[in-house]
Amino acid sequence: MGKNVAILASGNGTNAENIIRYFQEKGGEDGVALVVSNRQNVNVFKRAENLRIPCIYISKEKWTTGEEVLKLLADYRVDFIVLAGFLAKVPDTLLHAYPQRIINIHPSLLPKFGGKGMYGDRVHQAVVEAGERESGVTIQYINEHYDEGDIIAQFRCPVFPKDTAEDVAVRVHALEYEHYPQVIERLLAEIDK
Ligand code: GAR
Repeated sequence: MGKNVAILASGNGTNAENIIRYFQEKGGEDGVALVVSNRQNVNVFKRAENLRIPCIYISKEKWTTGEEVLKLLADYRVDFIVLAGFLAKVPDTLLHAYPQRIINIHPSLLPKFGGKGMYGDRVHQAVVEAGERESGVTIQYINEHYDEGDIIAQFRCPVFPKDTAEDVAVRVHALEYEHYPQVIERLLAEIDK
């Protein structure tokens, strides 16, 4: 039986769109069943709706307990949860209901440049300011602490002396688009149904 993925996202949603398209183009049984956000009117909703994926907004208060999210995921028979630019805390109820089945992508080589408040362009800015010579992407399971879950995979790219944060962002995004869908696909294949 095909496996259903839920994507949690808070903003632009280029990764979400890329993942949705990847599975749609494969035409297999696995795919993205819904996109959930903690913000209203975000770009990710437009991107997902264009691809006929249901989008659901869950308010901040409701994320605190997680009960409503859990019910929603059960309604859509979600097997696996993918964070793609999701900036709220994942409630413990979800972590317990989906052990080793919630993953995140972070735009640096963790443990470097991770932790609360480190997201998106802030990460690339910090990488450039620190004079790093490489950056990349970390895909990991999530746990109760920001950016401290078990690492599944890392992918690297160079950072050149004259790079701006924007230059690094472009290179890191390219790595995300290339690898995140494939890692998800591999992990889905490992789930016994
Ligand atoms: C991505 O680069 C992702 O790695 C990062 O946010 C961006 C979202 O872009 N996530 C974090 O920083 C998490 N700490 P997108 O909305 O266009 O996919």
